[in-house]
Amino acid sequence: MKTAICPGSFDPVTEGHLDIITRASGLFDRVIVLVSVNYDKHYTFTAQERMEFVRKACAHLPNIEVDTYDGLLAEYCKIKNATAIVKGLRALSDFEYEFQMALINRKLNPACETIFLTTRAENMYLSSSIVKQVSYFGGDIENFVPDTILGDIQDRLNQERRKHNEH
Ligand code: PNS
Repeated sequence: MKTAICPGSFDPVTEGHLDIITRASGLFDRVIVLVSVNYDKHYTFTAQERMEFVRKACAHLPNIEVDTYDGLLAEYCKIKNATAIVKGLRALSDFEYEFQMALINRKLNPACETIFLTTRAENMYLSSSIVKQVSYFGGDIENFVPDTILGDIQDRLNQERRKHNEH
């Protein structure tokens, strides 16, 4: 059984992420969506919330599992016996960072390959921070996040905005 890991911050999961996860689920027997920690990021949603969003958005995909881990991705891949890390690649802006991560992960765990799926053209501009920013300024995020979690995300972001405005 071939297992792949789709790691990311997913703060929150977007249509772009869901597209990559869906395509990975067609390529591997089992895909674990790993809600991970990016040392450089400050998160809006807790790991439990981010996992719950991913779970709901992927409920229709039978071979997807959702997990969280606050250690090294390469170590997690060893624990799960995963042969691949699958990541989405947008335009040039992602390349250098993703290339560096792939090389480091291969050094730490040579048994695991990083595979990049190129984003769909309509998701080129999309990111979790853009979703949060559009919502913060009252814009519509309907086209950016999966339908199944749109209401949940809007509620939580409205709550964040109110909290921010009180201070
Ligand atoms: O969605 P992101 O923030 O681009 O995802 C980056 C993430 C979380 C996949 C990456 O930071 C990660 O793998 N974190 C786990 C710790 C780790 O293994 N870091 C890379 C080696 S230094």
